[in-house]
Amino acid sequence: MTTVRDVRKNDGEQPITMLTAYDAPTAGIVDEAGVDVVLVGDSVGNASLGYETTLPVTVDDLARHVGAVSRATEEALVVADMPFLSYGVDEGESVENAGRMLKEEGAQAVKLETGPHTVSLTETMTQLGIPVMAHLGLTPQHVNQYGGYPRQGTDPDAAERIRELALAHEEAGAFSLVLEHVPSNLAAEVTDTLEIPTIGIGAGPDCDGQVLVVDDVIGLSEWSPSFAKRFGDVRGEMESAVEEYVAAVESGEFPGAEHSHEEGDLEDIY
Ligand code: KIV
Repeated sequence: MTTVRDVRKNDGEQPITMLTAYDAPTAGIVDEAGVDVVLVGDSVGNASLGYETTLPVTVDDLARHVGAVSRATEEALVVADMPFLSYGVDEGESVENAGRMLKEEGAQAVKLETGPHTVSLTETMTQLGIPVMAHLGLTPQHVNQYGGYPRQGTDPDAAERIRELALAHEEAGAFSLVLEHVPSNLAAEVTDTLEIPTIGIGAGPDCDGQVLVVDDVIGLSEWSPSFAKRFGDVRGEMESAVEEYVAAVESGEFPGAEHSHEEGDLEDIY
Protein backbone atom coordinates (compact mmCIF):
# COMPACT_ATOMS: atom_id res chain seq x y z
CA MET A 1 0.00 0.00 0.00
CA THR A 2 1.44 3.38 -1.02
CA THR A 3 1.70 5.83 1.86
CA VAL A 4 2.24 9.55 2.12
CA ARG A 5 5.71 8.70 3.40
CA ASP A 6 6.49 6.70 0.23
CA VAL A 7 5.45 9.65 -1.93
CA ARG A 8 7.33 12.15 0.21
CA LYS A 9 10.61 10.27 -0.02
CA ASN A 10 10.48 9.88 -3.80
CA ASP A 11 13.87 10.98 -5.12
CA GLY A 12 12.83 11.40 -8.74
CA GLU A 13 14.47 8.13 -9.85
CA GLN A 14 11.14 6.44 -10.50
CA PRO A 15 8.55 9.09 -11.49
CA ILE A 16 5.37 9.21 -9.40
CA THR A 17 2.27 8.35 -11.42
CA MET A 18 -0.97 10.03 -10.42
CA LEU A 19 -4.38 9.95 -12.12
CA THR A 20 -7.80 11.14 -11.14
CA ALA A 21 -10.69 8.73 -10.58
CA TYR A 22 -14.22 9.50 -9.45
CA ASP A 23 -15.94 6.11 -9.26
CA ALA A 24 -15.24 2.58 -8.06
CA PRO A 25 -14.79 0.80 -11.44
CA THR A 26 -12.36 3.41 -12.73
CA ALA A 27 -10.45 3.48 -9.45
CA GLY A 28 -10.13 -0.31 -9.58
CA ILE A 29 -8.64 -0.17 -13.10
CA VAL A 30 -6.30 2.71 -12.22
CA ASP A 31 -5.15 0.93 -9.05
CA GLU A 32 -4.59 -2.42 -10.81
CA ALA A 33 -2.52 -0.66 -13.47
CA GLY A 34 -0.07 0.34 -10.74
CA VAL A 35 -0.75 4.07 -10.48
CA ASP A 36 0.85 5.40 -7.27
CA VAL A 37 -1.68 8.08 -6.34
CA VAL A 38 -5.39 8.30 -7.14
CA LEU A 39 -6.69 11.84 -6.89
CA VAL A 40 -10.41 12.29 -6.43
CA GLY A 41 -10.21 15.67 -8.13
CA ASP A 42 -12.77 18.40 -7.92
CA SER A 43 -12.52 18.03 -11.72
CA VAL A 44 -15.35 15.57 -11.00
CA GLY A 45 -17.47 18.72 -11.49
CA ASN A 46 -16.56 19.00 -15.17
CA ALA A 47 -15.83 15.33 -15.84
CA SER A 48 -18.86 13.65 -14.25
CA LEU A 49 -21.35 16.15 -12.83
CA GLY A 50 -21.95 18.24 -15.94
CA TYR A 51 -20.71 21.57 -14.55
CA GLU A 52 -18.74 24.12 -16.62
CA THR A 53 -16.23 24.69 -13.80
CA THR A 54 -15.21 23.02 -10.55
CA LEU A 55 -16.79 25.77 -8.42
CA PRO A 56 -20.21 24.20 -7.77
CA VAL A 57 -18.74 20.95 -6.39
CA THR A 58 -19.72 20.54 -2.73
CA VAL A 59 -18.11 18.70 0.17
CA ASP A 60 -20.97 16.17 0.03
CA ASP A 61 -20.38 15.60 -3.72
CA LEU A 62 -16.67 15.06 -3.20
CA ALA A 63 -17.18 12.85 -0.14
CA ARG A 64 -19.48 10.50 -2.08
CA HIS A 65 -16.85 10.09 -4.81
CA VAL A 66 -13.97 9.71 -2.35
CA GLY A 67 -15.84 6.88 -0.61
CA ALA A 68 -16.43 5.07 -3.92
CA VAL A 69 -12.79 5.41 -4.95
CA SER A 70 -11.41 4.38 -1.54
CA ARG A 71 -13.54 1.22 -1.49
CA ALA A 72 -12.10 0.13 -4.84
CA THR A 73 -8.45 1.05 -4.22
CA GLU A 74 -6.10 -1.43 -2.58
CA GLU A 75 -2.58 -0.19 -3.35
CA ALA A 76 -2.58 3.44 -4.41
CA LEU A 77 -2.65 6.45 -2.10
CA VAL A 78 -6.10 8.09 -2.24
CA VAL A 79 -6.05 11.90 -2.14
CA ALA A 80 -9.24 13.94 -1.77
CA ASP A 81 -9.27 17.30 -3.55
CA MET A 82 -10.96 19.88 -1.34
CA PRO A 83 -13.75 21.80 -3.13
CA PHE A 84 -13.93 25.56 -3.64
CA LEU A 85 -14.54 27.42 -0.34
CA SER A 86 -14.57 24.21 1.69
CA TYR A 87 -11.21 25.39 3.09
CA GLY A 88 -9.42 28.67 3.59
CA VAL A 89 -12.35 30.67 4.96
CA ASP A 90 -12.71 29.40 8.51
CA GLU A 91 -9.90 27.24 9.90
CA GLY A 92 -12.13 25.02 12.01
CA GLU A 93 -14.49 24.35 9.13
CA SER A 94 -11.56 23.68 6.78
CA VAL A 95 -10.16 21.08 9.16
CA GLU A 96 -13.58 19.45 9.68
CA ASN A 97 -14.20 19.22 5.93
CA ALA A 98 -10.77 17.80 5.20
CA GLY A 99 -10.88 15.51 8.24
CA ARG A 100 -14.18 14.06 7.03
CA MET A 101 -12.44 12.76 3.87
CA LEU A 102 -10.02 10.75 6.04
CA LYS A 103 -12.33 9.87 8.91
CA GLU A 104 -15.45 8.88 6.99
CA GLU A 105 -14.44 8.30 3.36
CA GLY A 106 -11.11 6.46 3.49
CA ALA A 107 -8.79 9.04 1.87
CA GLN A 108 -5.21 9.20 3.18
CA ALA A 109 -4.53 12.85 2.31
CA VAL A 110 -6.13 15.99 0.90
CA LYS A 111 -5.11 18.36 -1.86
CA LEU A 112 -5.59 22.10 -1.46
CA GLU A 113 -5.32 24.65 -4.26
CA THR A 114 -2.76 26.74 -2.46
CA GLY A 115 -1.78 30.37 -2.13
CA PRO A 116 -0.61 32.71 0.62
CA HIS A 117 -3.85 31.94 2.50
CA THR A 118 -3.11 28.20 2.86
CA VAL A 119 0.37 28.25 4.43
CA SER A 120 -0.76 28.25 8.05
CA LEU A 121 -3.72 25.99 7.24
CA THR A 122 -1.28 23.45 5.77
CA GLU A 123 0.70 23.60 9.01
CA THR A 124 -2.41 23.10 11.16
CA MET A 125 -3.74 20.22 9.06
CA THR A 126 -0.36 18.50 8.97
CA GLN A 127 0.01 18.81 12.74
CA LEU A 128 -3.46 17.35 13.20
CA GLY A 129 -2.60 14.35 11.01
CA ILE A 130 -4.22 15.42 7.74
CA PRO A 131 -1.45 15.16 5.12
CA VAL A 132 -1.60 17.99 2.58
CA MET A 133 -0.69 17.92 -1.10
CA ALA A 134 -0.21 21.54 -2.22
CA HIS A 135 -1.18 22.79 -5.70
CA LEU A 136 0.35 25.87 -7.35
CA GLY A 137 0.47 27.41 -10.82
CA LEU A 138 -2.91 27.25 -12.51
CA THR A 139 -5.45 26.70 -9.77
CA PRO A 140 -8.80 26.18 -11.54
CA GLN A 141 -10.83 27.40 -8.54
CA HIS A 142 -9.53 30.90 -9.52
CA VAL A 143 -11.18 30.70 -12.95
CA ASN A 144 -13.18 33.88 -12.32
CA GLN A 145 -10.11 35.80 -11.27
CA TYR A 146 -8.13 34.58 -14.29
CA GLY A 147 -11.03 34.91 -16.76
CA GLY A 148 -10.20 31.42 -18.09
CA TYR A 149 -7.37 28.94 -17.63
CA PRO A 150 -4.17 30.78 -18.69
CA ARG A 151 -0.60 29.58 -18.22
CA GLN A 152 0.91 30.76 -14.93
CA GLY A 153 4.40 31.82 -13.83
CA THR A 154 5.26 33.23 -17.22
CA ASP A 155 7.11 36.36 -16.02
CA PRO A 156 9.95 36.54 -13.49
CA ASP A 157 7.85 38.01 -10.66
CA ALA A 158 5.05 35.47 -11.05
CA ALA A 159 7.59 32.63 -11.32
CA GLU A 160 9.35 33.78 -8.16
CA ARG A 161 6.02 33.99 -6.28
CA ILE A 162 5.32 30.37 -7.20
CA ARG A 163 8.81 29.26 -6.10
CA GLU A 164 8.43 31.09 -2.78
CA LEU A 165 4.96 29.70 -2.12
CA ALA A 166 6.22 26.21 -2.96
CA LEU A 167 8.93 26.57 -0.33
CA ALA A 168 6.51 28.03 2.21
CA HIS A 169 4.18 25.03 1.79
CA GLU A 170 7.07 22.59 2.06
CA GLU A 171 8.10 24.31 5.29
CA ALA A 172 4.50 24.20 6.50
CA GLY A 173 4.54 20.41 6.09
CA ALA A 174 3.03 19.65 2.66
CA PHE A 175 4.18 16.19 1.51
CA SER A 176 4.10 16.95 -2.22
CA LEU A 177 3.21 19.71 -4.67
CA VAL A 178 1.15 19.69 -7.86
CA LEU A 179 2.41 22.23 -10.40
CA GLU A 180 -0.15 23.01 -13.09
CA HIS A 181 0.34 24.74 -16.46
CA VAL A 182 3.62 26.48 -15.71
CA PRO A 183 6.75 26.73 -17.89
CA SER A 184 8.85 23.59 -17.78
CA ASN A 185 11.97 25.56 -16.77
CA LEU A 186 10.10 27.01 -13.77
CA ALA A 187 8.87 23.52 -12.84
CA ALA A 188 12.44 22.20 -13.09
CA GLU A 189 13.69 25.01 -10.83
CA VAL A 190 10.94 24.41 -8.23
CA THR A 191 11.65 20.68 -8.36
CA ASP A 192 15.34 21.33 -7.70
CA THR A 193 14.57 23.76 -4.88
CA LEU A 194 12.18 21.50 -2.96
CA GLU A 195 12.84 18.34 -1.02
CA ILE A 196 9.26 17.17 -1.39
CA PRO A 197 8.29 15.79 -4.80
CA THR A 198 6.60 17.86 -7.48
CA ILE A 199 3.87 16.32 -9.61
CA GLY A 200 3.33 18.16 -12.87
CA ILE A 201 0.36 18.68 -15.14
CA GLY A 202 1.30 20.79 -18.12
CA ALA A 203 4.59 21.51 -16.35
CA GLY A 204 7.07 19.60 -18.51
CA PRO A 205 9.17 16.50 -17.97
CA ASP A 206 11.35 17.57 -15.04
CA CYS A 207 8.85 17.15 -12.21
CA ASP A 208 9.15 14.12 -9.92
CA GLY A 209 5.83 12.79 -11.20
CA GLN A 210 2.96 13.43 -13.57
CA VAL A 211 -0.80 13.72 -13.14
CA LEU A 212 -3.65 13.90 -15.65
CA VAL A 213 -7.41 13.70 -15.57
CA VAL A 214 -8.33 10.07 -16.28
CA ASP A 215 -11.05 11.00 -18.79
CA ASP A 216 -8.41 12.77 -20.90
CA VAL A 217 -6.04 9.79 -20.70
CA ILE A 218 -8.60 7.18 -21.74
CA GLY A 219 -10.14 9.41 -24.43
CA LEU A 220 -13.54 9.91 -22.82
CA SER A 221 -13.48 13.71 -22.54
CA GLU A 222 -15.13 15.73 -25.31
CA TRP A 223 -12.40 18.36 -24.90
CA SER A 224 -8.93 18.09 -23.38
CA PRO A 225 -6.31 20.73 -22.55
CA SER A 226 -3.32 21.03 -24.87
CA PHE A 227 -0.97 19.48 -22.29
CA ALA A 228 -3.02 16.27 -21.96
CA LYS A 229 -2.48 13.18 -24.09
CA ARG A 230 -5.10 10.61 -25.09
CA PHE A 231 -3.88 7.05 -24.66
CA GLY A 232 -7.16 5.42 -25.73
CA ASP A 233 -10.54 6.03 -27.38
CA VAL A 234 -13.12 5.10 -24.76
CA ARG A 235 -15.56 7.70 -26.14
CA GLY A 236 -15.38 6.05 -29.58
CA GLU A 237 -15.85 2.60 -28.02
CA MET A 238 -18.85 3.79 -25.99
CA GLU A 239 -20.43 5.50 -28.97
CA SER A 240 -20.19 2.43 -31.17
CA ALA A 241 -21.40 0.06 -28.41
CA VAL A 242 -24.44 2.26 -27.68
CA GLU A 243 -25.24 2.68 -31.39
CA GLU A 244 -25.05 -1.09 -31.87
CA TYR A 245 -27.35 -1.65 -28.88
CA VAL A 246 -29.93 0.82 -30.25
CA ALA A 247 -29.78 -0.80 -33.69
CA ALA A 248 -30.10 -4.31 -32.19
CA VAL A 249 -33.18 -3.39 -30.10
CA GLU A 250 -34.81 -1.56 -32.99
CA SER A 251 -34.23 -4.46 -35.38
CA GLY A 252 -35.46 -7.07 -32.87
CA GLU A 253 -32.06 -8.80 -32.88
CA PHE A 254 -31.75 -8.17 -29.11
CA PRO A 255 -32.75 -9.81 -26.80
CA GLY A 256 -32.12 -13.20 -28.43
CA ALA A 257 -33.12 -16.61 -27.06
CA GLU A 258 -29.86 -16.73 -25.09
CA HIS A 259 -30.85 -13.58 -23.17
CA SER A 260 -34.38 -14.81 -22.26
CA HIS A 261 -35.90 -17.76 -20.43
CA GLU A 262 -39.27 -19.48 -20.40
CA GLU A 263 -40.83 -20.99 -17.26
CA GLY A 264 -42.43 -24.42 -17.81
CA ASP A 265 -44.87 -23.93 -14.91
CA LEU A 266 -46.44 -21.01 -16.66
CA GLU A 267 -47.18 -22.94 -19.86
CA ASP A 268 -50.84 -23.66 -18.95
CA ILE A 269 -51.69 -20.07 -18.23
CA TYR A 270 -49.66 -18.19 -20.84
O1 KIV B 1 -9.12 18.36 -9.90
C1 KIV B 1 -8.19 17.83 -10.50
O2 KIV B 1 -8.37 16.88 -11.28
C2 KIV B 1 -6.85 18.36 -10.29
C3 KIV B 1 -5.73 17.80 -11.12
C4 KIV B 1 -5.87 18.16 -12.53
C5 KIV B 1 -4.40 18.14 -10.58
O3 KIV B 1 -6.66 19.23 -9.49
